[in-house]
Amino acid sequence: MTRDYSEQLIVQEVAPRDGLQIEAKWVETADKIALIDGLSACGFTRIEAGSFVSPKAIPALRDGDAVFHGIRRAPGVVYVALVPNVKGAQRAVAAGADELNLVMSASQTHNRANMRMSCQASLDGFAEIVRTTNIRLNGTVATSFGCPFEGNIDEDRVVSIVRSYREMGIEGITLADTTGMANPRQVERVVLRVLEHVPAAALTLHFHNTRGLGLANVLAAYDAGARRFDAALGGLGGCPFAPGASGNICTEDLVNMCDEMGIPTGIDLERLIALSRTLPALVGHEVPGQVAKAGRNSDLHPVPD
Ligand code: COA
Ligand code: ZN
Repeated sequence: MTRDYSEQLIVQEVAPRDGLQIEAKWVETADKIALIDGLSACGFTRIEAGSFVSPKAIPALRDGDAVFHGIRRAPGVVYVALVPNVKGAQRAVAAGADELNLVMSASQTHNRANMRMSCQASLDGFAEIVRTTNIRLNGTVATSFGCPFEGNIDEDRVVSIVRSYREMGIEGITLADTTGMANPRQVERVVLRVLEHVPAAALTLHFHNTRGLGLANVLAAYDAGARRFDAALGGLGGCPFAPGASGNICTEDLVNMCDEMGIPTGIDLERLIALSRTLPALVGHEVPGQVAKAGRNSDLHPVPD
């Protein structure tokens, strides 16, 4: 079978949000702004630039307002803010976010650990956000492919939450594999089911590489018809309220794979790698991404004497 890899794969960069939320070292507001501006120059059309959650829950991102006010708005880039509740939506709108990413888990247990409320309370808050704001909305179903507390997640439940989001008026949908429990076969099955309810242009897949299956899951989702993917520079990331969480799929590793396969992304890999190489100094440790360490295939080495 010959597969078609001519359609663009859209990468939404999430390092400023998912990446930094779990970092122990405080990253200065100015450095966050410089990171986002550096990402804007790499060719992304969507950047999740921060979250508007309780500063007690995620101290690392407590300066979201200042970050959104400080960034240089590159034309054509949608700057997204993650939001858990009505208060977060109000703060994000006031800070100038272009789109809100509303997050609830398919797993009741993880939603209580992460958002300190039931799934129904999350949905009630989202309904109020739909009623009271006039802004682009995306709804994330966290733990769509497995929960670190509950294990398997019923696929019918994921589909039913997706349908509730859409019926409520939330246009964009993200299926998130919060702790890297998805496998390619499951991803293909779930993506095919969800695409019966959501156009491909509105569906995003959010994979963590916790068990090394991140890029395999991307390809399975692409082959099933998905076109939008979250990824974090350097492979940073993780949910602090999910035991064992680790980094998102790494943006430059994803873009390198796409470049080698001929899948268009519109992202400048050379710039991306240069930016990724600034991360260890920013966060104070090595980062998981591989291509920034190895270089591209085309970065050849001198022949030994
Ligand atoms: N932004 C800032 N402050 C907020 C807030 C928001 N979006 N939502 C609530 N708060 C404040 C309240 O004003 C209150 O402040 P006070 O103690 O000074 O009066 C305090 O937080 C508690 O409010 P409450 O509504 O009772 O929240 P909670 O303690 O039940 O926590 C969430 C609920 C959703 C706010 C919290 O669990 C949270 O922020 N979770 C996000 C976790 C996250 O970002 N995970 C990773 C991304 S998926
Ligand atoms: Zn994540």
